[in-house]
Amino acid sequence: MKKITIKALAFGIGLAALGANSWVLAEGNPAAGKKKAETCSGCHGEDGNSNAPIFPKLAGQHVAYLAKQLQEFKSQSRGESTMAAIAEPLSDEDIADLSAWFAKGSVHIEEEEGDYAVGERLYRVGNLQKGIPACASCHGPHGEGNGEAGFPAVRGQYSAYVSKALREFKAGERRNDRNQMMRDIAAKLGEEEIGAVSDFVSVLK
Ligand code: HEC
Ligand code: HEC
Repeated sequence: MKKITIKALAFGIGLAALGANSWVLAEGNPAAGKKKAETCSGCHGEDGNSNAPIFPKLAGQHVAYLAKQLQEFKSQSRGESTMAAIAEPLSDEDIADLSAWFAKGSVHIEEEEGDYAVGERLYRVGNLQKGIPACASCHGPHGEGNGEAGFPAVRGQYSAYVSKALREFKAGERRNDRNQMMRDIAAKLGEEEIGAVSDFVSVLK
């Protein structure tokens, strides 16, 4: 009996999450997405491995996360002027196709060089005194994220982009995270912790 109740509860929560994100269920066509992605390649690379660290890598990212971001750039609930202009003319079908294409790629991960101990500890264990949860609890031990839960992959992402995202969550400039999940965490991170965890994420695999 107990089991059933818990299952039913989990199902209910799952449905609530789906309800909030129902548009992400539109299935995209990666071949069509590849063609449409020609306009993205100057910044994000042909396969989603961007050439400059200020342009996030999209390769291998979860399809639902990519679609959510594109919808939010378009509606400007993720306020960022470059991507707002690019997402503005995209239809739901374009967004589904582009997301399907980039999700299929495999992310290029830099080689480790140096000491990542501080960042790795924060990522895997968090900081109990400061109330910072382990990043791995949501983003996964390999930085793989969880598409259904809405947790993006972070492995191999450029350190400079990760730091920028964390600073923007911290300042409340980026506010598209459900239940303020990232804003609450980033608010507790100091500048050194942001640097260390971002460097670690960029070599995580
Ligand atoms: C002129 C350069 C440029 C072009 C062209 C461009 N982007 Fe971007 N894109 C950016 C920048 C810069 C960001 C990071 C925004 C930020 O810092 O919040 C970004 C972020 C994104 C993100 C969010 C990634 C994440 O990890 O949250 C997605 C998804 C995305 N772009 C998709 C696309 C798609 C699809 C196209 C083509 C239709 C495209 N972009 C074209 C510059 C560009
Ligand atoms: C409780 C779950 C949770 C924890 C713990 C967590 N995150 Fe996140 N994180 C999220 C969610 C959800 C998003 C996506 C927000 C959105 O929809 O745009 C996110 C987004 C991000 C992004 C932006 C990714 C991109 O491509 O733009 C970065 C970077 C990030 N998290 C880093 C971290 C780091 C570093 C830690 C540990 C200090 C951490 N997160 C802990 C849930 C979490």
